Amino acid sequence: MKILLLGKSGQLGWELQRALAPLGDVMALGLHSSGGLVGDLGDEAGLRATIAAVAPDIIVNAAAYTAVDRAESEPELAYRINAGGPAVLAAEAAARGIWLLHYSTDYVYDGSGSRPWREDDAPRPLSVYGKTKLVGDEAILACGCPCLILRTSWVYAARGSNFARTVLNLAAERETLSMVADQIGAPTGADLIADVSAHLLRSVTRDGNAPPCGVYHLVAAGETSWYDYARLVIDEARKHSLSIKAKNVVPILSEAWKTPAVRPLNSRLDTTRLRTCFDIRLPDWREGVERLVHEILQS
Ligand SMILES: NC(=O)c1ccc[n+]([C@@H]2O[C@H](COP(=O)([O-])OP(=O)(O)OC[C@H]3O[C@@H](n4cnc5c(N)ncnc54)[C@H](OP(=O)(O)O)[C@@H]3O)[C@@H](O)[C@H]2O)c1
Repeated sequence: MKILLLGKSGQLGWELQRALAPLGDVMALGLHSSGGLVGDLGDEAGLRATIAAVAPDIIVNAAAYTAVDRAESEPELAYRINAGGPAVLAAEAAARGIWLLHYSTDYVYDGSGSRPWREDDAPRPLSVYGKTKLVGDEAILACGCPCLILRTSWVYAARGSNFARTVLNLAAERETLSMVADQIGAPTGADLIADVSAHLLRSVTRDGNAPPCGVYHLVAAGETSWYDYARLVIDEARKHSLSIKAKNVVPILSEAWKTPAVRPLNSRLDTTRLRTCFDIRLPDWREGVERLVHEILQS
């Protein structure tokens, strides 16, 4: 089995390189790939030629324009990458009858209410980023290729910068930290998403009775706010005897933390469909975050 993976250097792409390896040969491309192959989602001709050259059995797209706030001031670029790119991948997958695995976001929903969003709820993105991701999802679904679109939230990875590392750095320098307490979601590890992705791909490509194509929610179990997430990170660090200067973590409202892009308040995603269709258990978000803090402190 040959897998074409796009976005190899991102949080998720990095973990997918590991998780997909046991499934087959993984051709992993980044934004600036070399050797005549193109991994730039904004380069339609290059993408089509690359897919023809690689002739994959599965395309996995972890690449995206993810600069949520910057997207508000450069919507054309965000649309080209998040909507145009997936449309090209889906058209190629449909023409070849191969699977496309793609990732999407809680930002396609408007964050109203407190019930976890289900896959059949009407999306209504609040930000340019959310709109571009939704148009990408719709383009894939309209193409009719065999596809899985996994909507996730609050993604973190041990590699590179992440919320936990930022909290630890701030907590080492400041006595008081202010954290948004009215946005609720589930921090979800890129390692978990990658491992579940591999499980799903194995099911749909090898199981004659595979669950239906389409959108699935994939997040860790449980829910939290950025405020409680930060407190858990600090508590964990204290358990590991890290010197913490911060004495107070102060809960604030989103209104007090103005950003160019509006974030949904309710980012809860209902994962019932994924768990029942693919018979998997999703661990509580705390398990992954505790492990993340441990890894940061060991590095
Ligand atoms: N991060 C989150 O909290 C979150 C939440 C919900 C859903 N998601 C979705 O999950 C998926 C993976 O996100 P992530 O957290 O792994 O994001 P990430 O770490 O920002 O990785 C995205 C990757 O895409 C690459 N990229 C940017 N523009 C590109 C282009 N034109 N062509 C090809 N590659 C391009 C980036 O390259 P450079 O680094 O060189 O720019 C980066 O390696 C995305 O679909 C995202 O929308 C993420």
